[in-house]
Amino acid sequence: MYKIPSRPLMWSYLLLLLLSGPAVAQLPLPQPPFMPQNASAGAITSPGGSVPNPQWSSLLGNLLYFYEAQRSGKLPATNRVAWRNDSALSDGQDVHLDLTGGYYDAGDYIKCTFPLSFTLMSICWGATDFGKGYDLANQTPYLDDMLRWGLNWLMKAHPTDNTLFVQVADGDTDNAYWGGDQTIPGPRPSYQINGTSPGTDAAAGAAAAFAACSNLYQNRVFSNSYSGPATLQNSTYASLLLQHAQQLYTFATSAPGTEYQDSVPQAGEAYASSGYGDELAIAAL
Ligand SMILES: *[C@@H]1O[C@H](CO)[C@@H](O)[C@H](O)[C@H]1NC(C)=O
Ligand SMILES: *[C@@H]1O[C@H](CO)[C@@H](O)[C@H](O)[C@H]1NC(C)=O
Ligand SMILES: *[C@@H]1O[C@H](CO)[C@@H](O)[C@H](O)[C@H]1NC(C)=O
Ligand SMILES: *[C@@H]1O[C@H](CO)[C@@H](O)[C@H](O)[C@H]1NC(C)=O
Repeated sequence: MYKIPSRPLMWSYLLLLLLSGPAVAQLPLPQPPFMPQNASAGAITSPGGSVPNPQWSSLLGNLLYFYEAQRSGKLPATNRVAWRNDSALSDGQDVHLDLTGGYYDAGDYIKCTFPLSFTLMSICWGATDFGKGYDLANQTPYLDDMLRWGLNWLMKAHPTDNTLFVQVADGDTDNAYWGGDQTIPGPRPSYQINGTSPGTDAAAGAAAAFAACSNLYQNRVFSNSYSGPATLQNSTYASLLLQHAQQLYTFATSAPGTEYQDSVPQAGEAYASSGYGDELAIAAL
């Protein structure tokens, strides 16, 4: 049990606390102080319904710009991120495929299919339900650009019905490197799931991404859609995405239920799956 200190002892504690103040002095705070953006500016209704609220527009633009900074591969002439360079141009050579492009996973240089699939699925779903926001903010061309950069890579990572590359580059090698995009260490192995080493979760997750994005590109609206899809429709692209979705869904459901890190332990180090039920459910929608 805690024993209440006697009164003189308490005073000496207090004195000690006061005296120790300067020893734990913190860094001086900036002057003028950093202040979060004026929140009430975000609550102002977009005037007339055709002019978006500038604060939300710029937030949406920032979000898409973030993905542009994460790009891997040969960057297009339209690249807006001046400090990024072409990188990882040999990805896939170990399996005689072109696996360049796509997005780096975080502040490092591995490319991970499982979290990428979830990202693309969520963004496509959001842009189907709340697409008008992208249109009004004049961000729909960037949305299209962002999605295609990910989806085009995901299609490369799914070269045959029952093969899906789930990671490029080894996490340990990569985590040991703190540097720019011009001296990324190799080798960068390509890890796959396939008929003999399946992964229900990763296959279903990618199927869900392709399906949700196919819906968006096909203008297939949910019955309870809030504002309708962003206007980037292209039925050729939608059909291509749907093909990949269907093949991956068949791959996911035909093999016995497995978690992909059982087939590819290296991928499980960063993004192990807790089960495949959720991906399967969302892919089936
Ligand atoms: C916050 O922004 C709104 C819209 O620009 C403006 O009307 C309001 O006066 C601002 N409030 C403060 C405290 O700056
Ligand atoms: C891109 O290349 C430039 C010029 O070599 C370099 O200064 C910059 O740091 C590179 N960017 C990254 C992210 O490494
Ligand atoms: C199937 O995937 C496993 C696990 O990634 C891999 O070891 C094996 O080589 C692959 N099979 C083929 C035919 O590539
Ligand atoms: C539609 O998408 C396909 C496949 O990416 C592309 O080749 C074509 O140029 C696009 N069409 C339009 C009108 O953008």
